[in-house]
Amino acid sequence: MRVMIGGIDGYIGWALALHLVSKGHEVSGIDNFYTRKRVKEVGSWSATPISTMAKRVEAVKKLTGRKINFIKGNLTDYDTVKKSIRRFKPDTFIHLGEQRSAPYSMIDVKHAVETQVTNLTSSLNLVYAAKEASPKMHIVKMGTMGEYGTPNVDIPEGFFDIEYNGRKDRLPFPRTAGSWYHWSKIYDTGDMMFANKIWRLSITDVMQGVVYGTRTLEINDERLHTRFDIDEVWGTALNRFCAQAVIGMPLTVYGKGGQTRGFISLTDSVQCLRLAIENPPKEGEYRVFNQFDEPYSVLSLAEHVKSVANNFGLDTQISHTENPRIEAEEHYYNPIHENLKKLGYRRTKMLDEELNDIIRDLTRYKQRIKAKKSKLLPKTNWRKASN
Ligand SMILES: NC(=O)c1ccc[n+]([C@@H]2O[C@H](COP(=O)([O-])OP(=O)(O)OC[C@H]3O[C@@H](n4cnc5c(N)ncnc54)[C@H](O)[C@@H]3O)[C@@H](O)[C@H]2O)c1
Repeated sequence: MRVMIGGIDGYIGWALALHLVSKGHEVSGIDNFYTRKRVKEVGSWSATPISTMAKRVEAVKKLTGRKINFIKGNLTDYDTVKKSIRRFKPDTFIHLGEQRSAPYSMIDVKHAVETQVTNLTSSLNLVYAAKEASPKMHIVKMGTMGEYGTPNVDIPEGFFDIEYNGRKDRLPFPRTAGSWYHWSKIYDTGDMMFANKIWRLSITDVMQGVVYGTRTLEINDERLHTRFDIDEVWGTALNRFCAQAVIGMPLTVYGKGGQTRGFISLTDSVQCLRLAIENPPKEGEYRVFNQFDEPYSVLSLAEHVKSVANNFGLDTQISHTENPRIEAEEHYYNPIHENLKKLGYRRTKMLDEELNDIIRDLTRYKQRIKAKKSKLLPKTNWRKASN
């Protein structure tokens, strides 16, 4: 199939590109290096050194004989999106190219506005460009499990049956997010549903759990590394804990650590996305996949990291720091995730095996992590208007 990836230079985007070409798909991608620039803005970098896109594409050609077509462009520019779709004629456009950090969106009003304007603009551009240039194209839109929040009932995959005042209906499950970033994803979801309703576009809306891992089967050479963020703004919980363990820093669990979320390894995330791409929805269908392996509390993840790190001879401590976020620290959490399993998805690695690989990989880049040690501590605070 012909697949275009919006945000191909990112953590998931680059790993997905490598996975798709390895399965014989033709891949093209757009990126404006937004994340590279914004991570630099907060004084940090990827723990894994990452090549320029030109060098990445060249390495893929040399190592696998396959070609990846890269377009440097901004998804908030409508002409770029429309022209790229017209030229490449993808069967599927997967949209990963958004501002994806909750803390970044909470820094101050400028960052909140940038997050929502950037994210909503690129999504609206995509549905309009699809309608104009390729109405039968399958859109895979990357959302987040964080859209659902932590309700005190089971979370279905997108829709649920409700009976209220004696009447029944099937409705979108309510979304209640915990950051301006997560709200941008909720608005995106609304826009995707509406574009499907008015133009019958075929859309898969992926509610992605938190992704962890340094590698996939295809990331087997330093030139092919994907980024791996570790700082308090861009690094997600588990990845950041692994980086802290490697440099002997206590793992910073926010508050009690009972916050529970769905997690998935990078290897399994790209496997799921490939399955969604290879098994498109019916023409004019809008479907939702909850994409994660298992829910874990933040504290239980820290305990897993501590135990795996101990096997490497690392003396790892867990510290409970004041929670900079406004969120429940003890709550019910039970999301359903069956749709991808129906397409053949099977988990490939257990948590501790993956943690073993992450810690081994990061040990090689210990000095890079040490150099950014101060950036790993929580600073962005949800209660402040500017940080
Ligand atoms: N990583 C996770 O744990 C996780 C969890 C849930 C959801 N997601 C979602 O998955 C998607 C990808 O996440 P990621 O972790 O790979 O993030 P990332 O920041 O590493 O990758 C996003 C890529 O999109 C690019 N980009 C951003 N805005 C752009 C624009 N306007 N034009 C062109 N390119 C642009 C960035 O430069 C970057 O290369 C995001 O939409 C994110 O919200 C990620």
